[in-house]
Amino acid sequence: MPIGQTITQFIIEEQRKIGASGDFTSVLNDTFTACKSISAAVNKGALVGVLGSAGSENVQGETQKKLDVISNDMMIKANEWGGHLAGMASEEMEEVYPIPERYPRGKYLLVFDPLDGSSNIDVNISVGTIFSVLRCPEGVDRPTEKDFLQPGTRQVCAGYALYGPSTMMVMTTGQGVNGFTLDQSVGEFILTHPNMQIPPKTREFAINASNSRFWEAPVKRYIDELLAGADGPRGENFNMRWVASMVAEVHRILTRGGIFMYPKDNKDPSKEGRLRLMYEANPMSFIVEQAGGLSSTGRERIMEIQPRELHQRVPVILGSREEVERLVHYHQEAG
Ligand code: F6P
Ligand code: MN
Repeated sequence: MPIGQTITQFIIEEQRKIGASGDFTSVLNDTFTACKSISAAVNKGALVGVLGSAGSENVQGETQKKLDVISNDMMIKANEWGGHLAGMASEEMEEVYPIPERYPRGKYLLVFDPLDGSSNIDVNISVGTIFSVLRCPEGVDRPTEKDFLQPGTRQVCAGYALYGPSTMMVMTTGQGVNGFTLDQSVGEFILTHPNMQIPPKTREFAINASNSRFWEAPVKRYIDELLAGADGPRGENFNMRWVASMVAEVHRILTRGGIFMYPKDNKDPSKEGRLRLMYEANPMSFIVEQAGGLSSTGRERIMEIQPRELHQRVPVILGSREEVERLVHYHQEAG
């Protein structure tokens, strides 16, 4: 079997095109290393005793799994020493993580969800890592929370690793979306899915329907029309999927199209949405838009939201362009 382009070669060549420095390649390389380690830990699972709860809660009040904590540590350890980051922030840490004084600091910020979809870990269903790279504001070398609060349009790079039947890395630097498959025997991500594109039309949707009684009118209307199928106003049957791992959901949409929704609902009025803006919604929106799809809260483009806090939540509607446009239109009609 011929060996394809490695992810390192790919990003170095991409970096030359955009005139970026080697620092950027280093950030990505360290993140890829972390994801390979997380992949190995997820893969060994019960054999090495990493399943189950860690007995702690994160800032969101969610029970942390052992693998959430292990994956977070792996991301930190792989990225803190290299001298290209000024700071990191994670779903699993309440505060910004400063680069330890013993290491040099660089010009990038890394924000991540170390193990997304962690309710799926113990049942051996796909999980993933999501990350976003931002520039540290000029003149700041010890960034605080406010330095991270940049809209998604300012992302330099976004990506996710999917730990599924094969481990994949999918990423964008704003020049389209490319997917790489981990060759476990060599330990390298190899380009297997160049220039991924989301088909504009789809007949597949993803939503947690157990929340339907809490949805707003435009979402109820949209889903009712899909469920009515060939007998309803759409005149076509639609299929549904819900993995409960956003990474797996987005990957399916990048592969064969679809619409994913975790819309605003009134289940808990103190929460603006389920998913987190900085390390879930923004990186996924960057990838989806770069693949020709759309991403919205229903009321605004996600990547244009000015974040107010690190762990802010937002409604998310993303995927195939024509379906996202339709649901946004239903929101406009509802006023
Ligand atoms: O981290 C958020 C997340 O695990 C996503 O990966 C997933 O889409 C969603 O939550 C699942 O939510 P629920 O448990 O409500 O279906
Ligand atoms: Mn998550």
